[in-house]
Amino acid sequence: MADFVGALDQGTTSTRFMIFDRGGAEVARHQLEHQQILPRDGWVEHDPAEIRDRAGDVVAGALERAGLTAADLDSVGIANQRETTIVWDRRTGRPFGNALVWQDTRTRRIVSALERDGRGDVVRRRAGLPPATYFAAGKLQWILENADGARAAAERGDALFGTVDSWLLWTLTGGPDGGVHVTDATNASRTMLMDLETLDWDDELLSFFGVPRAMLPRIRPSSSAEPYGTTRPGGPFGGEVPLTAALGDQQAAMVGQVCFAPGEAKNTYGTGNFLLLNTGTEPVRSEAGMVTTVCYRFGDEPPVYALEGSIAVTGSAVQWLRDQLGVIDDAAQSEALAATVPDSGGAYFVPAFSGLFAPYWRSDARGAVVGLSRFHTSAHLARATLEAICYQSRDVVEAMRADSGVALDVLKVDGGVTANALCMQTQADVLGVPVSRPVVAETTALGAAYAAGLATGFWRGTDELRRNWAEDRRWEPSWDDDRRARGYAGWRKAVERTLDWVE
Ligand code: G3P
Repeated sequence: MADFVGALDQGTTSTRFMIFDRGGAEVARHQLEHQQILPRDGWVEHDPAEIRDRAGDVVAGALERAGLTAADLDSVGIANQRETTIVWDRRTGRPFGNALVWQDTRTRRIVSALERDGRGDVVRRRAGLPPATYFAAGKLQWILENADGARAAAERGDALFGTVDSWLLWTLTGGPDGGVHVTDATNASRTMLMDLETLDWDDELLSFFGVPRAMLPRIRPSSSAEPYGTTRPGGPFGGEVPLTAALGDQQAAMVGQVCFAPGEAKNTYGTGNFLLLNTGTEPVRSEAGMVTTVCYRFGDEPPVYALEGSIAVTGSAVQWLRDQLGVIDDAAQSEALAATVPDSGGAYFVPAFSGLFAPYWRSDARGAVVGLSRFHTSAHLARATLEAICYQSRDVVEAMRADSGVALDVLKVDGGVTANALCMQTQADVLGVPVSRPVVAETTALGAAYAAGLATGFWRGTDELRRNWAEDRRWEPSWDDDRRARGYAGWRKAVERTLDWVE
């Protein structure tokens, strides 16, 4: 009997394969970065072939490290960066250009046109999303209009659309040689093309973006006893393993954090931050700038929905300090540098590099550092960067409270930036609620594994998964109310300065 479950986590900056045992403990992992292609201001691309190849490399690498083979894996789940859009030729497997990444803002005109004639409200109502460059449909329209031969191939039924989950599932199950063309409901809910209630592609939404239905993947549950397909023996697994789960990475983290009950929430700190609140089997429409999204759908059970506060730039602002400004050599140094000063000296950094996402949804915003005097140093900037991560999260917590009436009594956190203790302490201070990090910080991969193993009966139910969750560390708020209120008022003023920047 296979004793392990695998999870392929394809993220914005890297791809990892992790292997878990029945207790949810990590057995092995392998991780590789891929290139960020930035051809113009506002454009962010990935090479789909590189993503496919890195996925293969990390699978083979982790199996080798663990001394395991395909036969030791009960099943595999996929978690992926969401919204990133790929169109490829079903006959050759060749993509029509690079993947357009979720951070890419080239579709600003496409999405702002939707607001001029009421189509934006249809998107809001039916897809649960505010029209924004962030989501996939505008990117798909752009590819159909700009990539050589894409439109004609789509109309002939030869061009396929997919988010990264679909691309990987198709390549892992055979590519041009019988690969399956599917997605799951969580990923489909990030396109602006799916009706949130029926969980099917919506013809009117498709017409807004000129998308032929033939190029769309079939929408499946996020966890399915009937596998999407099995891996090819000649592929990176070297054998046949059932692919039984796929979820957008943020939804996978909800599963990894065992947020299975309405009112349970988590905040993931990656390149961006994504705070999701389980709202149960009814979608809650946001009045406050949150996104309504599918949280997961397990088999034939009714879908579970979430409210989400998506923040485009948090960890990637730290990378910007490292790569573009050179004030730190690695991301971890941001903590030591920021800790050399007691606060940011009244300076604020609003990293609106992709405009502002939740709760503002302003693609005309651009980044700003405000409140500087000659006194300020790179240490203050590092501190302001960590504070920006926390203040942006406070913005979405406020919006979440307005929409759902749920006031968090503790914030469950995960993701790379949660290794930064100063940032987590600041988060507790800025919110005024405790912050709690689990032992397994890789909740995205864990959630994909859980969803895969639930499908096959490897794990018997969500109660068993709940018992695996354990707290590693908790940060308690230390600021008084006055300091918290003053700090947040300054942040809101700084955000105002970034709006209306781009025509
Ligand atoms: O919606 C974008 C999100 O899925 C990206 O997550 O962790 O790959 O930056 P991450």
